[in-house]
Amino acid sequence: MRPSCFSIVASLAVTASAFPANIDLAAAGFSSDALPDRRDLISYFNAEAQYIDTTGEHSWVAPTTEDARGPCPGLNAMANHGYLPHNGVGTITDFVLGTFKVFGMSLDLGAFLAVLGASFDGDGTSWSIGGPHPAVGLGATGLIGSHNKYESDVSPCRPDLYEAGNNYEVVLSQWQELYDLQKDVPNEDSNYSLELLREFRSRRFDQQIANNPYFFNGPFTGVAVQPAAYTFIYRFMGNKSAEHPDGQLTKEVLKSFFGMTENADGSWSGGRGYERIPDNWYKRAIGDEYSIPFFQTDFLKDALVHPKFLDIGGNTGKVNTFTGVDLGDLSGGVFNVKTLAEGNNAFCLASQFAAQAEPDLLRTLLSTLGGEAGKALLGLGCPLLTRFDDDQLKAFPGYSRSLEEK
Ligand code: HEM
Ligand SMILES: *[C@@H]1O[C@H](CO)[C@@H](O)[C@H](O)[C@H]1NC(C)=O
Ligand SMILES: *[C@@H]1O[C@H](CO)[C@@H](O)[C@H](O)[C@H]1NC(C)=O
Repeated sequence: MRPSCFSIVASLAVTASAFPANIDLAAAGFSSDALPDRRDLISYFNAEAQYIDTTGEHSWVAPTTEDARGPCPGLNAMANHGYLPHNGVGTITDFVLGTFKVFGMSLDLGAFLAVLGASFDGDGTSWSIGGPHPAVGLGATGLIGSHNKYESDVSPCRPDLYEAGNNYEVVLSQWQELYDLQKDVPNEDSNYSLELLREFRSRRFDQQIANNPYFFNGPFTGVAVQPAAYTFIYRFMGNKSAEHPDGQLTKEVLKSFFGMTENADGSWSGGRGYERIPDNWYKRAIGDEYSIPFFQTDFLKDALVHPKFLDIGGNTGKVNTFTGVDLGDLSGGVFNVKTLAEGNNAFCLASQFAAQAEPDLLRTLLSTLGGEAGKALLGLGCPLLTRFDDDQLKAFPGYSRSLEEK
């Protein structure tokens, strides 16, 4: 680590303990009792409407070397089944309608993620779910090239870029750890629940602090992308049925979506490119789409148990140097520990930080999202940041490197 870097960090008003719990949700009066109980909304199941076809034009077709596939198993599976263009390059509309149709992602969340993809990784209109692709404008990096802008640390099954030199191949030890959460449970009883995934994320977070000198838990990537990589596993991959309208995520279904095949000797094959929607699989109920407020409820519940998830900061160039920044300083006083859990503030903070990094983003969002999705997003009622002071973040090599790579 460069000494100058350390002195910058040291001069900041930071909490430099291993886990600076600078966001104390419980103290802020946030309690999961106050969250809406969605059970009433998900008591119904309609087989015909929720069934996802994996036959005919939606049969699984392996990608060729010309087809883009990246770190997202959901998008890879959709492309393998022709629910996104098979070359892995789609327009904003392709992504919004495709994720709604196959997974029941609500339009506000789908539009938000898709517009971000087009802005960070694409040419403003289209983007690649893998690396650069001739079907997208020159200079567009694809999802793979957006480390610490979009693609984040603490992924469930992918390595951090600075650990492995790639951020998209399945790491077998991480996969095994995930899979083994239900090791001795018979398939029909197995369920990769939100609770199990939350504890897995907590361990991955600690592993990053202990192993990745450049670990960075950013205001957008850490607060909003990282939890998605966990909650999406249960919320989207789980198989919905009349018995389990909220979903059950079994070992077989998990393996299929991650493209993993267990060999007779216990080793694994497959991984990126092999992702498959299981046959006879049912998506979320119509009307119970996974939306931004729903997602925010999930990730705040997780942060209530593990407040470190909301600690914005990182390692400072050596392992075990995790240092948090002060949220008030970062946001010009608009957000603080007490207000972060109110309303949609956590998501607002994250999305406005993303928008600052990409100034055209908000304009694109507003012009793209006429209609319901636009209203839903604007209806978040975000307190507006006048500016985000990212000087503090530049002290973290994981962040400053992402700026250099732009
Ligand atoms: C337009 C929509 C979507 C976008 C832009 C998107 C983007 C991403 C990105 C950037 C990552 C990498 C995050 C990281 O570095 O950890 C990721 C990972 C992931 N995504 Fe998506 N995604 C989308 C939809 C979905 C859907 C519908 C699912 C449904 C299952 C899904 C499941 C996941 C999972 C489980 C991971 C973590 C993979 C791992 O670490 O092994 N995503 N996605
Ligand atoms: C699976 O886990 C989820 C989320 O934690 C839970 O709501 C659901 O009831 C569980 N389903 C089964 C079948 O155990
Ligand atoms: C989903 O659940 C239904 C009803 O229990 C079952 O018939 C079907 O086989 C399950 N699909 C998968 C892929 O496990």
